[in-house]
Amino acid sequence: MTRDVDAVRGSFSSKFGIIAAAAGSAIGLGNIWRFPYVLGESGGGAFLLVYLLFVLSIGIPVMLSEFIIGRSTQMNPYGAFKKLAPRQPWFIVGIMGVIAAFMILAFYGAVGGWTLEYFFKSVVNQFSGKSSNEISQIFEGFRSNSYRPLLWQVVFMGLTFLIVVAGIEKGIEKYSKILMPILLILLIIIAIRSVSLPSFSEKLNPGAGLKFLFKPDFSKLNAKVIFDALGQSFFSLSIGMGALITYGSYIRKNDNLGSSAMIISLSDTFIAVLAGIAIFPAVFALGFDPQSGEGLVFKILPAIFQNMHGGYYISILFFICLSVAALTSSISLLEVVVTTFVEEFKITRRKASIIAASLITILGAICALSWYTFKGFGIDTLDESTGQMVHFNFFMILDYIALKFLLPIGGLFIVIYLGWFHGKKNVMKELSNQGVLKVGYYHLFMFLVRFVAPVAIAIVFLNETGLLKLG
Ligand code: TRP
Repeated sequence: MTRDVDAVRGSFSSKFGIIAAAAGSAIGLGNIWRFPYVLGESGGGAFLLVYLLFVLSIGIPVMLSEFIIGRSTQMNPYGAFKKLAPRQPWFIVGIMGVIAAFMILAFYGAVGGWTLEYFFKSVVNQFSGKSSNEISQIFEGFRSNSYRPLLWQVVFMGLTFLIVVAGIEKGIEKYSKILMPILLILLIIIAIRSVSLPSFSEKLNPGAGLKFLFKPDFSKLNAKVIFDALGQSFFSLSIGMGALITYGSYIRKNDNLGSSAMIISLSDTFIAVLAGIAIFPAVFALGFDPQSGEGLVFKILPAIFQNMHGGYYISILFFICLSVAALTSSISLLEVVVTTFVEEFKITRRKASIIAASLITILGAICALSWYTFKGFGIDTLDESTGQMVHFNFFMILDYIALKFLLPIGGLFIVIYLGWFHGKKNVMKELSNQGVLKVGYYHLFMFLVRFVAPVAIAIVFLNETGLLKLG
C-alpha cells in the first residue's frame, strides 16, 4: 500500500532528501533578507529573544503538526482537511494557505528579482570604489527604476515556474545540496569580516553591532515587536499555510518526523542568526542605519564586499547561492498552489502551473513596481511610536496581511486540529512510524500543540489589538 502511494505521488529518496527539501523551503530570503531588516526595525536583541521563544514553543510544534497531517493524508492542505474532517470547516485552512501562497510569492518574487539584479551588479562590478552612501543610493535608484525590478521579478518567477512545471525539484535539490553549504561558508566568512571591520567613527563602541543583536533592551519590547517576531518565525520556517503539509505528504513512512522537524527548524534559525552576525556589526561599523527597511541587506552586503579581499568573487558567488536559496523556497510556495489545483480541479500539472504562475506574476509585478509605477497605490497610516504618517505600499500590504494574519491564524488552526481533533492515537502512530520508533517527546509535544502554541498565538493577537496589555 505504502509503496503504491509512493509510486503514484513520489517521495523523497532518502532521509536527507526530505530534510534537504524542507530546509530548502525554509532557508531563503526570509533568513537573509527579512530577518535582519525586521530585527533592525523592531527591537534588536529583544526581538531576537522573542523570536527564539516562538520558534521553540510554536514553530517546531506547528512544523511537526504539518508533517503529521501531510504524511497521514498524502494530500494537499485543502484535500487533507477535507479527508480528515469531512463536512467540517477545517478545509478553510487550505484555502487560506492558497491565498497566503499567492500573496507571499507575489512579493517574494520581487525580492528574488532584486537578488538576481545584485548578482548582475556584482558581475559588472558596479559597487567598486563606492562609498556606503553611494551604495545605498544604488539600491534606491534600482528599486525606483521604471522597469528593472519588473524585468528581474519576471525572470525569477519564470525560473520558479520552469522548475515546478518540469517537476524537477529533485534536480534542483542536487544543486542546492552543493550551493547551500557554500552559502553557509560564505555567511561565516562575511560574519568574520563584519565583526572585524574597523569602525568608521572613533566614538563608536567596537561591539555595537553584536550588542544590538544579542543584548536585549527590554524597554524596546512592545506589542509590535512581539507581533513582528511571530510573523517572521512563521515565514522563516515556512509554516502556517500548509507548504509543509504538501512536503510531509512526500516523506517516506520510515522517516522520523520529529527529528526532521527539529533539525530543519534549528538550522533555519541558525542561518538567520548567522545572517544577523554578518549584517549588524557592519551596519554600525560602516555607518548605516539599522532601520533601513527592506533595503538593509542590499545596502550593507555590497559595502562589506568592498571591504574584503576577493570581494568581487565572493559577491558573485554569494548572490548566486542566495538566488538558489530563494528558488528552493519559491518553488515550495508555488507547489502548494499547483498541487491543490491539480488534485482539487483535476487539471494537469502543466495547466495548473501556468495558471498559478501567471496570476502570481501579475500580482507580483505590482509589488516589483511598488516604489515606482504603483508608488501611490497603498495606505497611509499613523505610526503610533513616532507620531508620523507612513505609507504602506502594495508590497508591504501583502507582506503584512500574509505574515501577520494568514500564517499565524493558519498555524493556530493547524495546532488546534492536531491537538484536539486528530486523535491521540493517530498522532502517536504517525510520530512513532506505526509503533517502530520511541517517542519520548510525545507528552511535551501534545502539551505544546494543545495549550502553549494556541494560547501564545491568541495572546499575541489580543495584545496587538490592544484588548490585552502585556507589561
Ligand atoms: N521560508 C522561506 C524563507 O524564509 C519562505 C517560504 C517558502 C515560506 N515557503 C513558505 C513562508 C511557506 C511561508 C510558508 O525564505
